[in-house]
Amino acid sequence: MDILDTIKRRTSCRCYQETAVPDDVLERCLEAARWAPSACNQQPWRFIVVKERGLRERICSEGFLPGLPMPWAKQAPVIIVLCSKKSLVTHFLAPLFSGINYHLLDLGIAGEHLVLEAQAQGLGSCWIGWIQPKKLSKMLKLPFDLTPVALITLGYPQAITPPGKRLAMNEIVIGKF
Ligand SMILES: Cc1cc2nc3c(=O)[nH]c(=O)nc-3n(C[C@H](O)[C@H](O)[C@H](O)COP(=O)(O)O)c2cc1C
Repeated sequence: MDILDTIKRRTSCRCYQETAVPDDVLERCLEAARWAPSACNQQPWRFIVVKERGLRERICSEGFLPGLPMPWAKQAPVIIVLCSKKSLVTHFLAPLFSGINYHLLDLGIAGEHLVLEAQAQGLGSCWIGWIQPKKLSKMLKLPFDLTPVALITLGYPQAITPPGKRLAMNEIVIGKF
């Protein structure tokens, strides 16, 4: 499968079937994330795979910020909690010079690797950033050096969501020298 084709077919899925995601499919998604590049190869990503219904429901009822209801998230048979593990180099030292949050870049890349492999495996996915990291940390009893930065729902889609609008190429390529 052409990678650009997979990229273009991925859209945020907000309507899931109840069908469980097989472990080998899930493993492939996590394997894709594992191979992501990262600043200074610090690999600051850590993943919590939540399949248990009770915990998924708690995450969705207590772990989201108010104002953006996401009732569909509870339907997803898998929620991945994408956590950042603190690294002295890329959390503290390097940003002192550049002002760039490398760990967030790294987690974004790893998460999108996961999502694209999910797409290639016929799964739907949706990033969820409207979360309450502190509440999630407490709920999941995370150690002090791990911070949840996003969730990704996974499951077989009920329907294919059409792609959202994208800026035109000439709006995003703002310089060519
Ligand atoms: C970092 C990030 C956070 C997001 N947070 C949410 C969210 O909290 N709730 C939601 O429904 N969608 C969320 N999305 C999905 C975006 O709304 C979606 O990617 C965007 O509208 C483009 O649509 P598409 O994914 O279907 O191409 C998030 C996406 C990203 C990358």
